[in-house]
Amino acid sequence: MKELQQAERVILITGGAGFIGSHLVRLLVTRYPNYHILNLDKLTYAGNLANLVDIAQAPNYTFIKGDICDYEQLLALFIQYGVDGVIHLAAESHVDRSIRDPFLFAQTNVMGTLSLLQAALKSWEGNFEGKRFHHVSTDEVYGALAFDTTLFTESTPYDPHSPYSASKASSDHFVRAYHDTYGLPVVLTNCSNNYGPYQFPEKLIPLFIHNLCEQKELPVYGKGENVRDWLYVEDHARALDLVFHKGGDRQTYNIGGFNEWRNIDLVHLLIKTVDSALGRPEGSSLPLIRFVTDRAGHDLRYAIDASKIKNELGWEPSLQFEEGIERTVQWYLSNPDWLKSITSGAYERYYQEMYG
Ligand code: NAD
Ligand code: TYD
Repeated sequence: MKELQQAERVILITGGAGFIGSHLVRLLVTRYPNYHILNLDKLTYAGNLANLVDIAQAPNYTFIKGDICDYEQLLALFIQYGVDGVIHLAAESHVDRSIRDPFLFAQTNVMGTLSLLQAALKSWEGNFEGKRFHHVSTDEVYGALAFDTTLFTESTPYDPHSPYSASKASSDHFVRAYHDTYGLPVVLTNCSNNYGPYQFPEKLIPLFIHNLCEQKELPVYGKGENVRDWLYVEDHARALDLVFHKGGDRQTYNIGGFNEWRNIDLVHLLIKTVDSALGRPEGSSLPLIRFVTDRAGHDLRYAIDASKIKNELGWEPSLQFEEGIERTVQWYLSNPDWLKSITSGAYERYYQEMYG
């Protein structure tokens, strides 16, 4: 408790045991020894404390198992620890799961965000000085782009298509509503697709690396023509740190890699990188590609215009994609125990149902 009493700031990160959250927790715990970082996470199938073993004993870090939908627990936590900043990442995050279980996405992403907003409001009301609620969201709220050169900007109208993106869009609206109605100091970020170490192997890149290692099929939805804009997760974490500290009140910042790839081209890059890392002859895993039934409502193309965060705050992605993919593949190959530790019974069942 000594460290906490002396802390310059107490930052609550929700979803800090997940993919992006764990990179952000690591960054803040190491960069700000004078802060206390609280990590509130429910540890769903996607939350994994193995993501944070290296900083788990840091004196300026505390893990709390909890649910963002539990308003009473949240309020008690704000008061007990004197939380003055929130960076909210906890969410259900996988589009395919949202198609199968939209209620869970509404519950966690909408009601959970609302509970967190209300707890922040109740504990900060009357003294918003130095307080900040940073909501971490996705570019998927903007809908889908055509195969052209248009990009999502901060003023692109919301047009979500999947239950996941609809739930995130709704949460974004609640965040702005809490600012406009009650004066809560908020800032928002909408980021493109992330990749890197510690990503749960249900998303395209880690799933395909995993399958390539095991020589399992690579299920490419539709014709593989859909386009995503990929960003290395540590670059996203740096951007979140910057926006949390320097972003303007009620501002939104789009974050992206200026790095568009058709899925099928990305799959070829993954095959090349993994085959080479494992000493297999070039292209030997190409026969693993399977074109499968397309995802329902599959958004054609996402691409972010990240010039606002670049021009106003000086952020830019630091890594070339090929280098990031190389690093990511090396990390998964060097950490087989991590993969094993998360392939829980629940995940295995889901995977079986999904891919047979
Ligand atoms: P993730 O699925 O890897 O992690 C989510 C974390 O939230 C897990 O640790 C999980 O245990 C926790 N969680 C879930 N429900 C909870 C609840 N009710 N209470 C407390 N904790 C709960 O997700 P991610 O990919 O790290 O994404 C983090 C955030 O960033 C999400 O809000 C997501 O919408 C957003 N985002 C993700 C991407 C991406 O490419 N992954 C891109 C843009 C934005
Ligand atoms: P994903 O990693 O699920 O992220 P998102 O749906 O949020 O963009 O998927 C990235 C792209 O890859 C998307 O166009 C769907 C496609 N995809 C496949 O073709 N096969 C798969 O097994 C998965 C998981 C995704």
